[in-house]
Amino acid sequence: MHHTILVTGGAGFIGSNFVHMLAEIRPEARVVNLDALTYAGNLENLEPVAKNARHRFVHGDITKPEDVEKAFQEAKGLGGQLFVVHFAAESHVDRSIVSGTPFVTTNVVGTQILLDASRRHGVEKFVHVSTDEVYGSLGDTGLFTEETPLAPNSPYSASKAGSDLLVRAAVHTHGFPACITRCSNNYGPYQFPEKFLPLMIANATEGKSIPVYGDGMYVRDWLYVRDHCEAILAVLEKGQVGEAYNIGGNNELANLVLVRHVLRELGKPESLITYVKDRPGHDRRYAIDATKIRRELGWSPRFTFAEALPLTIRWYATHSGWLQRVRSGAYREYYARQYGAS
Ligand code: NAD
Ligand code: DAU
Repeated sequence: MHHTILVTGGAGFIGSNFVHMLAEIRPEARVVNLDALTYAGNLENLEPVAKNARHRFVHGDITKPEDVEKAFQEAKGLGGQLFVVHFAAESHVDRSIVSGTPFVTTNVVGTQILLDASRRHGVEKFVHVSTDEVYGSLGDTGLFTEETPLAPNSPYSASKAGSDLLVRAAVHTHGFPACITRCSNNYGPYQFPEKFLPLMIANATEGKSIPVYGDGMYVRDWLYVRDHCEAILAVLEKGQVGEAYNIGGNNELANLVLVRHVLRELGKPESLITYVKDRPGHDRRYAIDATKIRRELGWSPRFTFAEALPLTIRWYATHSGWLQRVRSGAYREYYARQYGAS
């Protein structure tokens, strides 16, 4: 029997990469993609599957039960066993510092509405796509494991931790078949250029300055988005109900080191680096211990940073129209507010 996968947030960065991957490696699967098309959602990201008869797009908001119901009806109409992969979220830390309310609305309330509908419709498995940021910040050493206590520091990560707890409660109280994934920083095609990596690629390409927060020595563990998507699929197909799985690439880099890699790849000068005001409450370091998913589900990243960074840079170079379109309008206003004159 075929599977029908209801994906939320599939017009965003990771969700669209996941949907493309399904079309490629699970071509028999039916996919219903529920997305509100916020500033971060972009139908252009779905062009590669637009003509695929097994893929359907539903324009709707996870905070509206009637929209969620519409997506489930669409999915049920496609038959097969029903699965949910939940990406939809407000995802940018800096925006959550400006205003936390949309984060609570979508990430917390929206997740509960989706959980309630998923339970009512008897889904086989629900994968909640969360983040390593729920664990808080690390010092110079150590790694986040699945046992690390949740200690979120930003309104974004607090809202994601809240949604993780609601998923945990659904499993514990109702025997709901859910898993949680917690991944480190992703990079790759279709990432909205408010995030640091596409922002620096776009700015450097145009010879514009690259805003580095604070001393630039904040550390993130960078993973190519395709590897993240394959890990989520492994959890969907093989993950143990009630378990959380950390996902990471063993690829810790200080922000300044990352910028230097990108400038070198693009043949641009380091003089583009501009130090700007730090992010309030900026987490110093994230690093993931992904032993559990490697051991139990046999997943490991296929792409090295040395391969995937040039692939990513090339993607943005060959999709300059995409980049221009997302950098216009609402994004411009946000950028001006966030970075002022710098
Ligand atoms: P994104 O901001 O690029 O995309 C989010 C998508 O969700 C957009 O298409 C948007 O339109 C949609 N959306 C937002 N609010 C919605 C609502 N109320 N109803 C329906 N759709 C809505 O985000 P992303 O970077 O692709 O992240 C996807 C998920 O992965 C998020 O849950 C995020 O917390 C998690 N995550 C991201 C990273 C990363 O590095 N980007 C790492 C780990 C986990
Ligand atoms: O760790 C997973 C998380 O990674 C996801 O849950 C989030 O959705 C995703 O946005 C990302 O969060 P970060 O805050 O780590 O990503 P961001 O791209 O915003 O920033 C990466 C690092 O670069 C961080 O230390 C802040 C810094 N930075 C960011 C921007 C936008 C800068 O120095 N300058 C900038 O202009």
